[in-house]
Amino acid sequence: MSDTKIPVITIDGPGGVGKGTISALLAENLNWNYLDSGALYRLTGLACVQKSIKFEATDEVAKLAENLVVQFLPSGGILLDGNEVEPLIRTEVAGNNASKVAAIPEVREALLKRQKAFLQLPGLIADGRDMGTTIFPEATLKVFLTASADERAKRRYKQLIEKGNNVKLADLVVEIQERDERDMNRSSSPLKAAKDAHIIDTSELTIEDVFNKVIRLYKNSI
Ligand code: DC
Repeated sequence: MSDTKIPVITIDGPGGVGKGTISALLAENLNWNYLDSGALYRLTGLACVQKSIKFEATDEVAKLAENLVVQFLPSGGILLDGNEVEPLIRTEVAGNNASKVAAIPEVREALLKRQKAFLQLPGLIADGRDMGTTIFPEATLKVFLTASADERAKRRYKQLIEKGNNVKLADLVVEIQERDERDMNRSSSPLKAAKDAHIIDTSELTIEDVFNKVIRLYKNSI
C-alpha cells in the first residue's frame, strides 16, 4: 500500500486553539496514530537550553533537532534522552522557545523525515502549523482551527491555572499575539490554512462540537 492510501487528518491552527485536545480525542476514537509536531519543536528548544546551544547557532540547533533521542510513550509521557520531560516542554517559556527554533528553516528540514514516519496504518491525526500545507499535502481531510487571541489566551489561562502555574491573563494575550506574529511571518512553512482546508472557528464551540464537526467532515470525505 502506498503512503497516500493511509488516511490522514491534519489539524492545523495557532497556539491555544485546542488542536491538541481535539487531535488526541480524534486519535483515541478512531484508534489512529497521533503526531504532536509541536512537541518536536518544543523538544528541540528544550535540548538547546539543556545543552547551552544558542538559538542563533542555526546549524547546531538543526543538528540537535536531527539527532533528538525521543520516545512518545502510550501513557502520554515524552522521554528525551531517556528522561521524562513532558511537563518541562508544556510551559509558556518552552512554547516560545519552540516558536523561535521553528523559524529556522534547517530545523524544519531536520524534523521532516521524523514527522513523515508517523504515517502508519490504520491512520494518522497530524497536529501542528504546517501539516496540511507542507508535511501531508495529500491528506484525506485538512482542518484549520481558529479562535480570537483573547479566547485562546482565556483557554490557556484556565489550563495553566489548573496545572498550578502562576500566570496573568494579560501576559498570555501578549505572548499569544507575539507567537502568532512569529509563526505567521516566518519564511519557511508559515502558519496558514491550506487552500483545501476546512476552516472551523472554535470561539463559540465546545470541544465536543468541534470533534463532531471533524468526524462529519471526515465521513463526507471518504
Ligand atoms: O502546537 P505547539 O504550541 O506545541 O507548538 C509550539 C511551537 O512550535 C509553535 O509556536 C510553532 C511551532 N510549530 C511549528 O512551527 N510547526 C508545527 N508543525 C508545530 C509547531
